Amino acid sequence: MTPLDTCDERSLDPDPIRQFSAWYAAAERSGIDKPMAMTLATATRDGAPSARIVLMKQADERGFIFFTNYRSRKAKELTDNPHAAILFHWDALDRQVRAEGTITRISAEESDLYFATRPRESQIGAHASAQSEPIAGRSALEESARRIEAAFAGKEIPRPDHWGGFCLRPSMVEFWQGREGRLHDRIVYSRSAGAVWTMRRLAP
Ligand SMILES: Cc1cc2nc3c(=O)[nH]c(=O)nc-3n(C[C@H](O)[C@H](O)[C@H](O)COP(=O)(O)O)c2cc1C
Repeated sequence: MTPLDTCDERSLDPDPIRQFSAWYAAAERSGIDKPMAMTLATATRDGAPSARIVLMKQADERGFIFFTNYRSRKAKELTDNPHAAILFHWDALDRQVRAEGTITRISAEESDLYFATRPRESQIGAHASAQSEPIAGRSALEESARRIEAAFAGKEIPRPDHWGGFCLRPSMVEFWQGREGRLHDRIVYSRSAGAVWTMRRLAP
């Protein structure tokens, strides 16, 4: 795999999630640090945007799944306005993937299963941190973590209700491959109401 790979309609998978999986596997193989890190853009009901990095945990026929605090700013925005966009940039491969679509929560059972696999410190953090809320200082956060640690000493830590997964179901996925002379490849998949994917090329 070289940075100047091509991205050709005829060789791309007709299903963008399968195509994403192939590029994701290549990103993993390339040794890129955190290939699963993606920018997540949300917007308020009025359309004011905000963006941050989250980690993609799974991409399957449902879409792209990530985990967060359901009371965080992003989660509130997603509840008010379930339209979102995500973006991966794999610099070493000169590739970008963007997707746009609607967001739903995954099931509590699936969030439970994933939460149970997380390191204990992450589980404590999910309980201890009221993500996106102002706090008095660092010591307040550390104290909150100590309290949670003591409360669950010697026990399994259950998933807090306010923490879990979201799934972005894409209606658009774009694959961008950097090419020589700035004549980059851009292939966009769009899903119509009938759930059929169509592919077209855009000027870079
Ligand atoms: C590499 C990286 C990975 C991150 N992964 C997550 C994640 O998976 N879930 C999450 O809620 N926040 C994650 N964060 C923190 C978010 O970027 C953000 O600070 C936090 O979710 C609060 O965002 P909000 O106030 O807009 O809701 C990550 C940050 C970085 C830099």
